[in-house]
Amino acid sequence: MTPWWRDAVFYQVYPRSFADSDGDGVGDLRGVVARLDHLERLGVDAIWLNPVMVSPMADHGYDVADPRDVDPLFGGLAALDELIALAHARRIRVTVDLVPNHTSSQHPWFRAALAAAPGSPERQRYLFRDGAGPAGSAPPNNWVSVFGGPAWSRVTEADGSPGQWYLHLFDAEQPDLNWDNPEVFADLEATLRFWLNRGVDGFRIDVAHGMAKPPDLPDMELDARGLLAAGNDDPRFNHAGVHDIHRGIRAVLDDYPHAVTIGEIWVFDNAEFAKYLRADELHMGFNFRLVRAPFEAARIHDAIANSLAAAALGGASPTWTLSNHDVDREVTRYGGGERGLARARAMAMVMLALPGAVFVYNGEELGLPNVELPDEVLQDPVWERSGHTERGRDGCRVPMPWEGSAPPFGFSTNPVTWLPIPPEWARLTVERQAADDGSTLNFFRELIRLRRNVFRFHGNHVEWVRHDENVLAFRSGGVLCVLNAGDRAVPLDGGRLLAASSALTGGRLAPDSAAWLV
Ligand code: NOJ
Repeated sequence: MTPWWRDAVFYQVYPRSFADSDGDGVGDLRGVVARLDHLERLGVDAIWLNPVMVSPMADHGYDVADPRDVDPLFGGLAALDELIALAHARRIRVTVDLVPNHTSSQHPWFRAALAAAPGSPERQRYLFRDGAGPAGSAPPNNWVSVFGGPAWSRVTEADGSPGQWYLHLFDAEQPDLNWDNPEVFADLEATLRFWLNRGVDGFRIDVAHGMAKPPDLPDMELDARGLLAAGNDDPRFNHAGVHDIHRGIRAVLDDYPHAVTIGEIWVFDNAEFAKYLRADELHMGFNFRLVRAPFEAARIHDAIANSLAAAALGGASPTWTLSNHDVDREVTRYGGGERGLARARAMAMVMLALPGAVFVYNGEELGLPNVELPDEVLQDPVWERSGHTERGRDGCRVPMPWEGSAPPFGFSTNPVTWLPIPPEWARLTVERQAADDGSTLNFFRELIRLRRNVFRFHGNHVEWVRHDENVLAFRSGGVLCVLNAGDRAVPLDGGRLLAASSALTGGRLAPDSAAWLV
């Protein structure tokens, strides 16, 4: 039987930004419950919730202090139980984020490690090392944090003396766990079973190519910095030992056959990527090739062809995503304004025509652009850690505009939201777009409906009909998808028109547009 997730449309909910039910200006789980109609109307199969576990929110939930409880900010465990039950009643699955590479510095384990002596069992759960150089005053190696600055912070020992260093590939509030310590896996297993027993349908696994580290922690090449820039031989990631961890996770998941794992894998070598997808490892891997491809036919073709090849090598089904909470929204990436939006709509057609699981990020269905936020409201740790040279990811995390004509557009009853919503989003609200046949929202609704009702996917088969510097055409699931990434209209032939991202003139597809034909 085909698993439910194979060709599913997942909707990524960034809980802080989706809907606020209690008026504190930050989204929460009862906010999601209150807006389930929107998801049902959109026709998605599943939700992926960014982390909602107990957290001091240094990285908005990716710093987990208690992996088996929900933060009160999001409504606590009862709110998640409610969401799971009510989403399931509408046949929407619920998957949650799992953060196994690191914990919060407020996790009881890390607090105990700080209180304990060097070499103690408490310190063995993390990556503590003595410093280099005289008096150990230099970091143990040259690794840099993905968020900027060194990947090591020095602690003060209990007697007040300058002490050991601990590794954090991300923020200093996110110490990396020592995956060579069996206690770490035992605890993860408890976490997996805890959520699976509560009814979650699977996990998006954060930094799934992290966790394992080379034992001698060799220096890295210093030009490989951010996640996007990480090369294939970056010692911080993709260490061979990671595959044993995934086998351990899969063995637990196999007790819950309906559940799925999707790893966040920033690895761009197809053979290396495919290793994560072996039958006893992850079910699926996020690949970020479409996110990285500019709006050029050849680059989009390569991204699709490589994603299909990597998934095929691993014997798995591919995944597709154009945006998420870590990258600039595609409307902006493709040039912004009307042109950026036209291209984003065209790419939505490309993505939704492909076999495999598709991930739509909240607000993508409204055609939201990135927001240029003023310095004083920025919250992403990247802003501080980069010494104010990189603005970080807040611009793609601005809360959803639901209704009305002024901020906060029904997102909250509180006029002060955790990030400000631009007044010009009045024309992008769900309410406004629902009433407009030509809106991006209604376009997404229609595409998802057609994907469900018309496409008949057979495995991962995609047949290339044309790919040159201007046009991409492929047949998938019985539908011909044509993308015009050139600067001239192209004649459309090859069947009856099912949908198009812009109006056709004289049977021709305009630049920056796509169409589906049967
Ligand atoms: C990847 C997540 O998507 C990102 O938001 C987070 O900051 C890092 N992992 C660290 O957990």
